[in-house]
Amino acid sequence: MVADAIRLDGKVVIITGGAGGIGSATARLMAARGARVAIADIMEDAARKVAAGLPGAIAIHLDLEDQTSIEAMIAETVAHYGQLDVLHNNAALLGPDIAQADNDVESMSTALWDRTFAVNVRGTMIGCRAALPHLRKTRGNIVNTVSNLALQGHMIQAAYSSSKAAIIQMTRAIAASHGIHGIRCNAVAPGMTMTSALRDAFPPVLRKAVEDETLRDQLGEPEDIAEAAAFLASHAARNITGQVLVADGGCASHVPGISQFRSFFSGEHA
Ligand SMILES: NC(=O)c1ccc[n+]([C@@H]2O[C@H](COP(=O)([O-])OP(=O)(O)OC[C@H]3O[C@@H](n4cnc5c(N)ncnc54)[C@H](O)[C@@H]3O)[C@@H](O)[C@H]2O)c1
Repeated sequence: MVADAIRLDGKVVIITGGAGGIGSATARLMAARGARVAIADIMEDAARKVAAGLPGAIAIHLDLEDQTSIEAMIAETVAHYGQLDVLHNNAALLGPDIAQADNDVESMSTALWDRTFAVNVRGTMIGCRAALPHLRKTRGNIVNTVSNLALQGHMIQAAYSSSKAAIIQMTRAIAASHGIHGIRCNAVAPGMTMTSALRDAFPPVLRKAVEDETLRDQLGEPEDIAEAAAFLASHAARNITGQVLVADGGCASHVPGISQFRSFFSGEHA
């Protein structure tokens, strides 16, 4: 049955940033599909709370700026479960202070650029490097979370978007190098996704601007991204590698100015 193929029974999955909005929804969804999830996050208490509600789950302290911590996350997971099937690199350097400081290149602080790349790119690379020997044993896979901002230009978040674009190329590089060992590597690119943090922080006028560009009748929810990640992680995606699955409600898939067209034709198509 098709539905069975999208299950993750018995799979051991590490979810970095698993205490966050999308990460915790993904942990819940993957656990409901049969996975044993290791929830790795710098917010240790929050990670423990997510794990406490899920059968077979564990929480792991992770600081993506610290190589030892990343390598320990992989080692602890394998020591606990005896295997690793999926590394889901979902964590990223985010938050209101970071978003406020990360604008265009001309105003960019070198320290913020370096920190963004340290967490998002270097951290992801070290995690993948440590996971690959274990994934080779299970013919497992990696799912990296990127962003619609890695695929389109914007006037904000130059460091964040550049770091996510680097992760896309890392995704292809890993797929190309390790496919021969049975390992897949893909990325999911969320568009604006209504985590509770974003719902509180995002100015309504800008939210409306994104809604106007969305082809669905609503913005994405964390569970929507969780479904895309779970699919890529599952056997159902066995012939898919080196790809970016854009889960943005169609924001990036239409001609510019569609909201004006929608208004213009709204009378005819109402
Ligand atoms: N929400 C959106 O609209 C959106 C859009 C595009 C892409 N994304 C991507 O989705 C992923 C999840 O985002 P979210 O919206 O759930 O954000 P979030 O802030 O709720 O989750 C991010 C998690 O990463 C963790 N983290 C941050 N720095 C870390 C570090 N140094 N070490 C370990 N963990 C660390 C945080 O503690 C947090 O739990 C991110 O990769 C983000 O870039 C989100």
